[in-house]
Amino acid sequence: MIKVILGIETSCDETGAAVLERKNGRIQILSNVVASSAQLQAKYGGIIPEQAAREQLKSIIPVIEESLRLASLAQGSSIELDAIAVTQGPGLIGSLLVGVETAKVLSLVWNKPLIAVNHLIGHFYANWITDHLPGVRAHLEGVIPQFPCIGLLVSGGHTDLVLFQDHGKYEYLGGTRDDAAGECFDKCARLLGLPYPGGPAIAAEAAKLKVKSENLPAGKAGLKVKLPRPMLEKGDFSAKGGPAYGWDFSFSGLKTAVLREVEHLKITQQFSNLTIQQLSYEIQQAIADVLVEKTVKAAQKYKIEQIMVAGGVAANQQLIKDLRFKIKDLRLKTKLHVPPPNLCTDNAAMIAAAAFFQKETANPLNLQANPNLSL
Ligand code: KG4
Ligand code: ZN
Repeated sequence: MIKVILGIETSCDETGAAVLERKNGRIQILSNVVASSAQLQAKYGGIIPEQAAREQLKSIIPVIEESLRLASLAQGSSIELDAIAVTQGPGLIGSLLVGVETAKVLSLVWNKPLIAVNHLIGHFYANWITDHLPGVRAHLEGVIPQFPCIGLLVSGGHTDLVLFQDHGKYEYLGGTRDDAAGECFDKCARLLGLPYPGGPAIAAEAAKLKVKSENLPAGKAGLKVKLPRPMLEKGDFSAKGGPAYGWDFSFSGLKTAVLREVEHLKITQQFSNLTIQQLSYEIQQAIADVLVEKTVKAAQKYKIEQIMVAGGVAANQQLIKDLRFKIKDLRLKTKLHVPPPNLCTDNAAMIAAAAFFQKETANPLNLQANPNLSL
């Protein structure tokens, strides 16, 4: 029985190592260390793959050592691992290779099983980590997702709607046809002259808008234009209960609309701190509107009373607030699961958590990093 797992995550610009323990059916964090090269990437306005890989190489051993040291401290004795879990993909090949090859060596040297985890699935399993939740022992059934469950993954590279029937058993409903939700935040932030990563920067600008945002109807941030809600507003939901556009998303049109508006504001000399805040509010709201509408609609259509969100964009408090509001407004019994913000963005704890529900890799030395791994 696997009780303690070391997770390793190096899919992009974060180097993560975490030790998780499963005890009485509950998955808890003994340590969770993340070293990010995001500040370095911020200087260039985005990720440069070679640079991200080089930073991974520098950080991987110190981060693993620190996670083992902290886990031993948390346990009060030196940590005994039962398995090693690693992100196999998708992601940047140079970054992935650092984690996968390190994990293979450790598995061989320490003679521990290796468990390969899909990064996208890993994000969802942040919802199974219970030790940040109050009263978990008493309410375990209520706080971790129960199947069937609708999953919305919103990250820098992915926007996917998934119907989970069980661990390892899921149906892909739809995803983005172009930019991911996080990518849209990042690209729009760049257009507004805000730093990378764009999601938190846009959220912070939107929050500065003096008008109480709760009282602003969607698309009324005080801007003269309303930004589009792509693949939502043209077609009503079809008679069969599903959206006319299916469960897919598209965010590149929103980015283009922002580009046009920024150009217009600059030419007419109206581009200011205020219009940046207004646009930020509108961008955040447009993205949230689309995600909320489709996710809740999917739960209704498939008669599912559990929704879980995952990925960096799930750290967006407006999105979560709107999801809660929509569920309440429709008087649904749906239970919403949201990881705490630090477990929404890339981390190794989610990778170790997912590994508890997976089989070990038959031949660890044959494991290959796969930058194009899909759901
Ligand atoms: O899951 P993640 O850390 O990495 C990927 O697997 O892609 O997601 C990163 C994305 C970035 O696009 C970032 O701008 C976005 O998540 N993000 C947010 C917030 N925090 C991170 N987007 C909106 N609001 C946030 N608070
Ligand atoms: Zn991710």
